[in-house]
Amino acid sequence: MNLKGRNFLKLLDYTTEEIKYLLYLSQRFKDLKKNNIPHKYLEGKNIALLFEKTSTRTRCSFEVAAMDLGMGVTYLDAASSQMGHKESIEDTAKVLGRLYDGIEYRGYGQDIVEELAKYSGVPTWNGLTNEFHPTQMLGDFLTIKEHFGYLKGLNLTFVGDGRNNVANSLMVSCAKLGINYTCLAPDKLHPSPDLIETCREIAKQNDVNITITNNIEEGVKNANVIYTDVWFSMGEPEEIWEERINLLKPYQVNTEMMEMANFNCIFLHCLPSFHDTNTKVGKKIYEKYGLSAMEVTDEVFNSEKSLVFEEAENRMHTIKAIMYATLSDKEL
Ligand code: CP
Ligand code: NVA
Repeated sequence: MNLKGRNFLKLLDYTTEEIKYLLYLSQRFKDLKKNNIPHKYLEGKNIALLFEKTSTRTRCSFEVAAMDLGMGVTYLDAASSQMGHKESIEDTAKVLGRLYDGIEYRGYGQDIVEELAKYSGVPTWNGLTNEFHPTQMLGDFLTIKEHFGYLKGLNLTFVGDGRNNVANSLMVSCAKLGINYTCLAPDKLHPSPDLIETCREIAKQNDVNITITNNIEEGVKNANVIYTDVWFSMGEPEEIWEERINLLKPYQVNTEMMEMANFNCIFLHCLPSFHDTNTKVGKKIYEKYGLSAMEVTDEVFNSEKSLVFEEAENRMHTIKAIMYATLSDKEL
């Protein structure tokens, strides 16, 4: 398998075999790290990280992974670069492509990261756009694979804003990896019909189903994985909070919901999460709407079924695999 020179913009661009290979490589890198075996295999290379939205996990994972691989890293945010304000995406991409061996972008439209990739001439990685969050997926499916020992035929239910970047990416990934995907969300927050159709075609080839429902019992019965995400994503204005909360309140992941699922069901969340009032936003939501948690209760978040911190760690191992695979053609 040779992925050298490829971009990593969305999982629709990758075959099942390629995704499985990246998961295999991730496991190899995790083993190296856990055994304290140095792996500076990309010494002499440099990467740029462009963040137009905030981040903890994605930024840190790219930085640690790059340093472990021996690479130099530059972090640029919206306020400290010319991109978008004084310089077009095309020109920015052409400049960065001459200085760096790879570029990560987190921000708004998928078209922006696609344009960066088109003009940079170096591997470009999507660290989250409004539409997709592909690097998150590898961390998630590595976690699921480590826990169950396999992926094919499992049932994953996403509960919440079924058309956000994480939900869209989960639907694509499940279809590609042969996992039954259920989107449990109020009708107003269902994924786009086009993406559903595309995923259903892929799912069919892998003998699995894509189910879209607003019915909680139907949505979670048999689930091996219940996955949720924040009710409003970065970039969405505060004006939508009230409507979104009213729509999603019945869909909060709580112990009762977890008990309706398969006995072996685990809980995943890409994080950050509003499971208590220990954040500024969490406090504000409590004061305005009387909710002490949003998408998941503190009880489920901190339960034995919750693998969210393993999942967060796996972001680093998987991002390392993505960078290595797209920057090197040497077998590990
Ligand atoms: N899950 C995730 O992408 O986290 P950050 O926003 O902290 O990068
Ligand atoms: N849907 C969330 C994911 C954060 C990792 C957002 O876009 O804010």
